[in-house]
Amino acid sequence: MPAREPTSSDLTRRTFLRTGALTVGAVAASGIGVATAAPGGGKGGGGGKGGKGGGAMTNPLYLPPTLDPGAGLVTLTAAPGLVDLGPYDAASAWVYNGGMPGPTLEVSTGDTVQLRFQNDLPEGSITHWHGMVVDHDNDGHPNQEVEAGSHYDYAFPIVQRATMNWYHPHPHERTGKQVALGLAGAFIIRDAQEAALGLPAGVRELPLVIRDGDVDREGTAVIYKPKSSGYEGKKAFVNGTLEPYVEVDNALYRLRVLNGANGRIFRFAFADGRGMTLIGNDGGFLPAPETVTEIELSNGERLDLLVDLRDLDKDDTAMLVDRNSGWDLLEFRVVRSVNDTTLIPTSLPAPPAPLSDPVRTRTFSFDGMGKINGLEYAMERIDFEVPYGQTERWVLTTGGNAPHPVHIHGTYFQVVSRTGGRGQVFPWERGWKDTVLLQDGETVEILIRFDHGHKDLYLMHCHKLEHEDRGMMSNFLVV
Ligand code: C2O
Ligand code: CU
Ligand code: CU
Repeated sequence: MPAREPTSSDLTRRTFLRTGALTVGAVAASGIGVATAAPGGGKGGGGGKGGKGGGAMTNPLYLPPTLDPGAGLVTLTAAPGLVDLGPYDAASAWVYNGGMPGPTLEVSTGDTVQLRFQNDLPEGSITHWHGMVVDHDNDGHPNQEVEAGSHYDYAFPIVQRATMNWYHPHPHERTGKQVALGLAGAFIIRDAQEAALGLPAGVRELPLVIRDGDVDREGTAVIYKPKSSGYEGKKAFVNGTLEPYVEVDNALYRLRVLNGANGRIFRFAFADGRGMTLIGNDGGFLPAPETVTEIELSNGERLDLLVDLRDLDKDDTAMLVDRNSGWDLLEFRVVRSVNDTTLIPTSLPAPPAPLSDPVRTRTFSFDGMGKINGLEYAMERIDFEVPYGQTERWVLTTGGNAPHPVHIHGTYFQVVSRTGGRGQVFPWERGWKDTVLLQDGETVEILIRFDHGHKDLYLMHCHKLEHEDRGMMSNFLVV
């Protein structure tokens, strides 16, 4: 069946490898062509500079298994493990439930989820559900870090609409390392409005955790080379796969994209210039669909995209690339010709009403490599208090050393304006966001309100993880 359901058979192969039986025979028996030549001697490029989209990719894209923590307790165990990166089929990494990325969590609005974080790492950690509107106890704040060998239990209702969030470690000063070594996963919320749209689903909906990283010379370990200005790795990992391809039909596809990199900003495009129809971002569906040919996405931001491959024939390919680095990211390889009549929606479910009439303005300056308004993060210090239920205007500026992807826990916000620098609010920044990119010279204004039932301690921080770890993070209390 590989030709019919390419992604699930790829999944089977990789899951099998990850569960332990690392033999060439097992790979051959799966019937998938893979680069099994000399582990460690394989090619390691993440696409190479100046990729024009012609370079053939050699490794099937990994798709993590899906788990539903709304149907009963799910345990996420973080531990050292071995992963199959494609060219290197047994590289050590830090993984959730054996995978890099970890399992895709999938729940519905209205569910109550139960999750246990089991820390089998050699050091302390805690898991944060980025984008989930939860109380402090369920937020994975660094003051909830649990030591090696311990666990932390979460239970929270899903109160927000359909979107793709994600999860990752959040211990103070070690987030960058733990994410770079492999700890992250997608967390999808479904709802009835989404279902009514009839969007591409099953193997035609692909969660894509896109990041960069490094592998040691022998191909035996995912490694982290921190730099206070922000870590940038030499290779692109898409769902943990180097030089990935995915076998597809000539059909409409839905791509759920996360920039899961520590510090690298991607400018996504297709090598052939094909359009990508933006339908959603961090906070769910956009006010209206919009087709663009390039999207700049910073650390922690998400995209919900429709990409139409119906103009292609069997054996044609389309390459997703990063125009910032010149890397090829993911090759869509058409292996089957079909007649797909799925419609691209012309309207989307209305987002929650826009905020207006802020009662107060606060200004936050992101300075150097590790300060907000001149202060480095201190676990015990609360930097400001925000009255519950009041709309506020927050003005985000920087004294340099950008990019600073600014992320806020506990609610969503709207991007109202950007002055200086790129000077505009981009189509993928409409609707509701939890992370917004601040570049040098820019001032970004947002409207924000905490009205989800929790008067609690939350965080604002730079999502360039090395800046966050150096202290570009602030505690605030909703009162
Ligand atoms: Cu994705 Cu506080 O972070
Ligand atoms: Cu977050
Ligand atoms: Cu920063």
